[in-house]
Amino acid sequence: MTKASQKFCMGMAAVVAAVVLVAGSLRPAEAQPQLPDSAAGREYVGNSQCKMCHNNDAEGGQFGKWQGMHHAKALETLKSDAAKSVAEGVGLTKPPHEAPECLKCHVTGYDAATASAPSKIKLTEGVQCESCHGPMSEHLKDAKTLKFKPAAIADIDILAHMVVPDEATCRGCHNDSSPTWKADRYTLDSGETTGFDYAQAWAKIAHDYPEGVLEEKYDGQYPVD
Ligand code: HEC
Ligand code: HEC
Ligand code: HEC
Ligand code: HEC
Repeated sequence: MTKASQKFCMGMAAVVAAVVLVAGSLRPAEAQPQLPDSAAGREYVGNSQCKMCHNNDAEGGQFGKWQGMHHAKALETLKSDAAKSVAEGVGLTKPPHEAPECLKCHVTGYDAATASAPSKIKLTEGVQCESCHGPMSEHLKDAKTLKFKPAAIADIDILAHMVVPDEATCRGCHNDSSPTWKADRYTLDSGETTGFDYAQAWAKIAHDYPEGVLEEKYDGQYPVD
């Protein structure tokens, strides 16, 4: 058994234990993760759109890294036996992969109130890029210009049309309204435990540009590093 799958199985055992503890504590479907207001007016394009430009290993290979994250499997997880028992534990009658109460955190942009996802979002892709970076329709326009003319960076505010994710973005889903929340999932240096620790969680999903790549590509004009 690989280290990862061993960890996964231990996780599953813990879920079954957690069901007993949190049964009945699920909050109403309508209380759902929110992106900042700055995302208003932009549309979700789906992560197949990101793949074409952010899948180059020399530039951080973000798409490939995402595919290896738990986030990419978030819908699949809802089809597991563990998920079914979690759902039964909180009194759901629908299968979890069809229940708005679960999909709102396990799928990008899912609106529990209308029980639907944005049209370009495939449920099977789970928690995609835009769950954290926000709806990206406007970024695609900036990006197409830059792709053919890197010097245009001088006139483009690259961060203007995206959410810059931070700890609060994560906590929109990583919080105690998740039925498998474990208050002691992470151990801090001090020995204290916590349900979510940004530094450790980010380290597990990090997908930065390698040092110096953007400086070189944009001849020192890229505004952020
Ligand atoms: C046509 C190509 C293209 C597409 C499609 C595209 N991007 Fe980008 N993106 C770029 C370019 C070019 C930059 C500027 C930096 C660079 O050269 O990688 C960038 C920068 C970014 C940044 C970094 C901002 C920073 O902190 O510096 C993020 C985040 C990002 N894109 C996310 C996405 C996501 C998510 C998608 C899919 C919805 C996407 N991009 C689709 C080309 C693209
Ligand atoms: C839209 C909801 C959502 C957002 C936002 C989100 N996550 Fe997650 N995250 C999930 C779900 C759902 C899972 C479980 C996926 C699975 O195992 O199928 C998960 C799992 C994880 C895991 C693996 C489990 C663990 O705790 O070790 C890590 C690490 C993680 N997320 C880090 C982050 C970080 C860091 C951020 C913010 C930058 C973040 N997540 C933002 C929903 C989200
Ligand atoms: C508030 C957001 C949220 C909701 C609602 C939610 N989940 Fe999750 N789920 C997560 C996150 C985040 C994780 C990753 C574990 C972590 O770090 O807390 C996760 C992980 C899981 C896991 C993997 C076990 C684990 O502990 O990693 C299962 C199974 C699961 N969820 C089932 C469900 C089911 C079934 C529902 C609906 C009844 C549901 N979830 C609703 C956020 C949510
Ligand atoms: C769970 C949340 C989450 C998901 C999913 C996610 N990202 Fe990110 N991403 C982040 C965070 C947090 C950062 C770091 C932001 C910062 O501090 O600069 C980041 C940074 C980036 C950067 C800039 C790296 C740098 O060095 O500045 C790019 C490009 C990027 N992400 C693209 C993507 C693409 C493409 C996808 C999907 C294939 C994706 N991300 C999925 C949270 C996420």
